[in-house]
Amino acid sequence: MRIPIVAGNWKMNTSVAEAISKVESMKGPLEKIEGVDKVICPPFVSLFPLSNLLSSSSIKLGAQNVYFEEKGAFTGEISPLMLKDLCTYVILGHSERRGYFGEDDELINLKVRAVVKAGLLPILCVGESGEEKKEGRTEEVVGRQLRMALREVSLQPGLVIAYEPIWAIGKGIAASPEKADDICGFIRRVLQELYGDEGKETRIQYGGSVTEDNISSFVREENIDGALVGGASLEVEEFPHIVQKVAEAKGLK
Ligand code: 13P
Repeated sequence: MRIPIVAGNWKMNTSVAEAISKVESMKGPLEKIEGVDKVICPPFVSLFPLSNLLSSSSIKLGAQNVYFEEKGAFTGEISPLMLKDLCTYVILGHSERRGYFGEDDELINLKVRAVVKAGLLPILCVGESGEEKKEGRTEEVVGRQLRMALREVSLQPGLVIAYEPIWAIGKGIAASPEKADDICGFIRRVLQELYGDEGKETRIQYGGSVTEDNISSFVREENIDGALVGGASLEVEEFPHIVQKVAEAKGLK
């Protein structure tokens, strides 16, 4: 049985003070919800204060990026070793990093390996662009992203894959749940091909314009184990509602 997982990707939003205030508001409602793993991924600078605030909480933290080297002359970068006392997860391969910062599959693979080596868990994002979708290349693109990012990576029990079609991110237009489930099913088959039957136990999230109004329709699907939420995860009332709806749809509440 795969434990559902909902993660909030705050992207480049919130000052430290705002991040603390949001977590203080969401903490109580989120902690009441059982059976769903809850993750908040704030900007780097808020990880330290939030790790203190959540030290005995069921809410876990994630970073939004990392460099692959452990230490050295890499001005401006953050190493996995610096993160491992502060958080549990690291988002890797997000389409915004691929698109705006030129991250390619090789770099993402180096980051996945470094994160795993440090004992952190990747939330590995994959997804096609609108054009690739139109050309009927979704499976080709997603399959390549997965196989390359996971090259020479042994199966991590806590690994999370996020299927985020680029055309659905921040647009208010989500994918259809059936279509998203098809691709998540494809991702599961690739994981099985890479890792055997145990690979099928990896949790797969859907991401892209998830809200409290549409989340239930996604997690009712067989292959969708939760969501990676952008904009709506900054809303202190809506994010706990999303997690609550996941618990209800999965029959946990
Ligand atoms: P939105 O939920 O704002 O569409 O963002 C999705 C996303 O990119 C999460 O990583």
